[in-house]
Amino acid sequence: MPEFRILGKNPLAWWRRTVRSRGVIHALRVAWYAALDSGFDYWNGTDTTRRIHPTRIETDSANRTHSSYYGATRALPFFGLLKQLNLPKDITFVDLGSGKGRVVLLAAEWGFRKVVGIEFSGPLCEINRKNLVAYGRRHALKAQVEIIESDVTQYVFQKDDRVCFLFDPFDSVILEQVLRNLKQSLRQHPRALWMIYNTPAEHAVVMGSGLFQKWQCHWVRGTEFFVYCHVL
Ligand SMILES: C[S@@+](CC[C@H](N)C(=O)[O-])C[C@H]1O[C@@H](n2cnc3c(N)ncnc32)[C@H](O)[C@@H]1O
Repeated sequence: MPEFRILGKNPLAWWRRTVRSRGVIHALRVAWYAALDSGFDYWNGTDTTRRIHPTRIETDSANRTHSSYYGATRALPFFGLLKQLNLPKDITFVDLGSGKGRVVLLAAEWGFRKVVGIEFSGPLCEINRKNLVAYGRRHALKAQVEIIESDVTQYVFQKDDRVCFLFDPFDSVILEQVLRNLKQSLRQHPRALWMIYNTPAEHAVVMGSGLFQKWQCHWVRGTEFFVYCHVL
């Protein structure tokens, strides 16, 4: 069945809060695109939509207290953003905190050469692998896909990693470490690199890293993405 709990636990509270802070048109747009997204699993035979509270994410990592909830990036906004950005495709796309793999599936369908998902929860990695099989039955997945069960702070960035994706996965403590690792990789292998941040709660931390010369806000079909660019 489609996931109906699409605007948090209390849709009425969400509605009031959003209308007050962003206006009624904005709230209607977000609700409309959330409703459209709610059928994703039903149509694709996957399990990606249902949220998981951080305390219920199963992991042995000591960094679990820095984690946010599990939730999935919406498909239409993600594809809309990729269309706007027109990034090269012969590169590796890395989802930092990939969860059940919604973004891994979409990026693999989009046609990046390689897609890597890094997730510290074993059970979520397992669901991601099953989702790949189910989604692959209905869509042509053009990328080589790798799901890595690991804390993101342990990930060693590779020289072909050119797009990093985050959907509000963790707090500033983890993000600062990830950005330090990325800086080291860029020093060893200078290259242009994009970071896409869905719901950019730690924007100040990204800017404070000094890694990115340019950034832009993209509101796409009710989802806010910040896109940062490291140029050579
Ligand atoms: C909001 S979900 C995003 C899922 C996916 N990227 C998407 O956009 O559909 C964030 C994910 O980050 C994972 N996560 C949080 N902290 C992590 C860490 N230190 N290492 C690896 N994964 C982490 C959580 O378990 C969760 O699955």
